[in-house]
Amino acid sequence: MWEQNADINKVSEIRIAARVYFGCGAINKMHDVALEMKQRDITSLLCITGKGAYRKTGAWEVVTEAFKEQGITIAHYDGATPNPTMDQVDEATALGRKSKVQAVLAIGGGSPIDTAKSAAILLSNPEFNARQLYRGEFVPSKALPIVVINLTHGTGSEANRFAVATDLETEHKPAIAYDCIYPWISIDDPALMTSLSHHQTLSTSVDAVNHVVEAATTIMASPFSILTAKETTRLVVKHLPTALENPNNLTARYWLLYASMIAGSSFDNGMLHLTHALEHPLSAVKPDLSHGIGLGVLLPSIVYAIYPSCAEVLADVLKPLAPDLTGKADEARAAGASVQNWLNSLGLTEHLGDIGFTKEQIPHLTRLAFDTPSLGSLLACAPIEVTEEVVTTIFQNSFSNFE
Ligand SMILES: [Fe+2]
Repeated sequence: MWEQNADINKVSEIRIAARVYFGCGAINKMHDVALEMKQRDITSLLCITGKGAYRKTGAWEVVTEAFKEQGITIAHYDGATPNPTMDQVDEATALGRKSKVQAVLAIGGGSPIDTAKSAAILLSNPEFNARQLYRGEFVPSKALPIVVINLTHGTGSEANRFAVATDLETEHKPAIAYDCIYPWISIDDPALMTSLSHHQTLSTSVDAVNHVVEAATTIMASPFSILTAKETTRLVVKHLPTALENPNNLTARYWLLYASMIAGSSFDNGMLHLTHALEHPLSAVKPDLSHGIGLGVLLPSIVYAIYPSCAEVLADVLKPLAPDLTGKADEARAAGASVQNWLNSLGLTEHLGDIGFTKEQIPHLTRLAFDTPSLGSLLACAPIEVTEEVVTTIFQNSFSNFE
């Protein structure tokens, strides 16, 4: 239906950027990447990773061999944690400065990738630090070239211009989006993802689904963000149960990775709104919380809240998990319940209380959603007017099941 009713006079900004090598064995493209770097006179790079996955997946072996072949030296920062902090960004940048690096390589999921994007900006803008970057005190137009070896099928960060970092002191987890941090080259190799745990497999794919539910329903949504959203949902609903049951199933990993990559592009175009703007306060207050789990806890209540304003699009996007929706505004409760039942069927049964929050924290979390730099602009992209009352109600509804 929404296809029939699409506003053909609305001018959309469609972005498809980053060169992505996609498929099993894509990691071996690093030999070509190292050669391209050499041809660009890059002789030293900063590599950002977490503690173990970069080695466990076998990526490190390929990378070190490829760069050794070309005589490129690596300054290695392995301190990027889940929900990376401003201090980590500054530490990584300091190492890069000391080593006079000319490019940045991330090996990992969203955390090392986003840390690398932030460091790439700061290395090209040496008068600033991470907090100034994330407070919007300057608008960067340049960054060092970024290469990404992606190790999870969730963030889509390898395909877009977004990055996040957390300020533990202020409990702010803002996002940035700048053209200069589109990765130059990304590697999406499903064979590097078979060692993701059950929990990581679930939380990263739930992140991808949240990206598209939001990107398809912002005021900036376009046919591109909606059609990529439909495909993302279809692929995740079809392949996630297989990957959860059999982590070594490469076909399932391939399609989940493809879904998260196009979801990354979907929100690069359509942007995000409520689920991310409300989850960031949760993981800023509790940095141990998995981003995807926080999103999953909030999603049913958010679908319930926004459904009447974008029923036709949401019915279409959610069809693979809620085939009975017809796109009528009065289906909001059924839509929220369907999302909740789907998440429950995958084992994501938590509510806000189960992940350590109390109802007394709702005013503080609500404040953070409005006060954190950049989150206000996400809320402004929502398909409904977002007041403090709306946010409070969503948090309240996320403490229990839909009836
Ligand atoms: Fe996300």
